Amino acid sequence: MNAKIISLSNQKGGVGKTTISRLLGHILAFLDRKTLLIDTDPQGNLTKSLIDEEEPGLYEALTGADYDISEIVPNLFLLAGSIRLAALEKSLIGEMDAYIRLKELLADDLFREFDYCLIDSPPSLGVLTINALVASKYIIAPMNPAIYSLQGTNDLMATIAKVKKNLNPDLTFLGVIINAFDAHPVITRQIREEIVSSFGELVFRTTLSRSVKIEEALAARRGLTRGESKVGDEIALIGEELIERIELSRTGSKEAVPVPSEVEA
Ligand SMILES: Nc1ncnc2c1ncn2[C@@H]1O[C@H](COP(=O)(O)OP(=O)(O)OP(=O)(O)O)[C@@H](O)[C@H]1O
Ligand SMILES: [Mg+2]
Repeated sequence: MNAKIISLSNQKGGVGKTTISRLLGHILAFLDRKTLLIDTDPQGNLTKSLIDEEEPGLYEALTGADYDISEIVPNLFLLAGSIRLAALEKSLIGEMDAYIRLKELLADDLFREFDYCLIDSPPSLGVLTINALVASKYIIAPMNPAIYSLQGTNDLMATIAKVKKNLNPDLTFLGVIINAFDAHPVITRQIREEIVSSFGELVFRTTLSRSVKIEEALAARRGLTRGESKVGDEIALIGEELIERIELSRTGSKEAVPVPSEVEA
């Protein structure tokens, strides 16, 4: 069985791509899915949230050098990012294989042992994000219910459509995860409704609340589990819904859920 490869992408910064990659990684690992986190962001936030020492990771892997895959907890592994990826992004411009490097890497037998690969993308639609989308079967877009959060979504949808058309016809928009939700302000609830009316069933049923427990878990370098807090329950439900959308999809390799018209454009 090949790994199910999922990109967490949104060119908007600070919406929770890295947080959700890490927390979902822990949940999938807990649910007995052997999971590899891949940090394609030169900021390396995902990497720094999981390991201390810089080690040869994605940059080395994409440039043909030796690299390590670190075990974080049982069933959860990391292919580390680093600032060197910024230089790679520049040097790839104009190269014939600029957009398929990550796809080619993940075709290696070594990666077949993973059930899931979660790829954390940088906040841009540049070469590294396109590498993530070309290598992936699925894309999830985390979004904040904040003013302007839907702005820029069209750029993301247009990029997905171009990648589908030119480079990866299999790419499937798996859904939107609404993150950092605070139910008190009326405006936040209104924006959530706007996101739901734009994306329909593509919005994950469970929303991840804004909570200091998320920063606490980050500081303690641990995941969240069901029963420990509201956000622990929420991320567990999101993980289960992810598995449901992928593993229980009756359509198999086809779209797991309806696609908004922009994606098909
Ligand atoms: N639900 C939440 N509750 C509280 N804090 C959160 C939540 N989600 C994310 N954060 C915090 O918000 C900040 C931004 O989140 P994160 O780094 O995951 O976003 P990102 O989309 O990966 O950002 P970038 O675009 O820079 O890569 C982090 O400090 C993170 O700990
Ligand atoms: Mg990030």
